[in-house]
Amino acid sequence: MAQELPAGALEPEHVQRLLLSCQQAKKAAYCPYSRFPVGAALLTREGRIFSGCNVENACYSLGICAERTAIQKAISEGYKDFKAIAIASDLQEDFISPCGACRQVMREFGTDWAVYLTKPDGTYVVRTVQELLPTSFGPEDLQKRR
Ligand code: THU
Repeated sequence: MAQELPAGALEPEHVQRLLLSCQQAKKAAYCPYSRFPVGAALLTREGRIFSGCNVENACYSLGICAERTAIQKAISEGYKDFKAIAIASDLQEDFISPCGACRQVMREFGTDWAVYLTKPDGTYVVRTVQELLPTSFGPEDLQKRR
């Protein structure tokens, strides 16, 4: 009998696709200043995957992280319901963890979805957006004004 997945858990095939996609996306990183390539792969409710890499700029502050590249690609293609995002870097010893700005941008699209923090060997830890950014401010809060 097929084993039941816990509510919200990803199919193993989806996890594998995400892990491969974020590592693939990392290869396109444009990071001549930091030399710190990062890739991200975002899974939508529909099963689509949007990937992204960090894109730096000679005007340093204009650089954008891989996670936000992926999210902006998805949003601009009409997808905004996300199940998970996976992140890859070259760090061997640590699971790559998203910056605060990316956590806030993830949170815009819900708190209850999964973030896969990976290592190059394919191991990972999973956190929810809620866990990465507790007590957050989001679109619902703007509705509370009167
Ligand atoms: N970076 C990402 O793209 N995602 C992360 O999760 C951490 C950091 C990028 C930003 C910059 O291009 C480089 O890594 C060094 O900070």
